[in-house]
Amino acid sequence: MEHLDLTQEYLANLGVLLVKLHNIHWNVVGKHFMKIHEFTEELYDQVFEDFDEVAELLKMKKVMPLSTLEEYLEVSSIEEVAAKDFTREEALEMLKADLETMQALATDIRNLADDEGDFETVAMFEDFVAFYSKNIWFTDAMLK
Ligand SMILES: [Fe+2]
Repeated sequence: MEHLDLTQEYLANLGVLLVKLHNIHWNVVGKHFMKIHEFTEELYDQVFEDFDEVAELLKMKKVMPLSTLEEYLEVSSIEEVAAKDFTREEALEMLKADLETMQALATDIRNLADDEGDFETVAMFEDFVAFYSKNIWFTDAMLK
């Protein structure tokens, strides 16, 4: 089932994103530090929960979830970033791009799962798409 391969990529993305969001959370600088610091914390708390939920979904589908950092870096469509002082704009542009990557992948998985009659995956990923839509809106609003 094609959507399960994409779900592995989604899991890998969550693994990489969990670390990348902390990188931004720690290293953003400037007068809007606290806003971005708190925003990234809200995001990584959700990503942390989704990470386990998606792996357990794969277990329910009798698929062994990718479970090593090496595999995550190999499969992920989210790019890591080296630590440095990130300006507010750099932080928000990176967040926006990654949230859009996640929203697009979650949408593809939702639609493929629907074609294959996998309503458990459909239900879970509809919530993920809504989460990213909301946070892309927040990011856009902060960038204005
Ligand atoms: Fe923190």
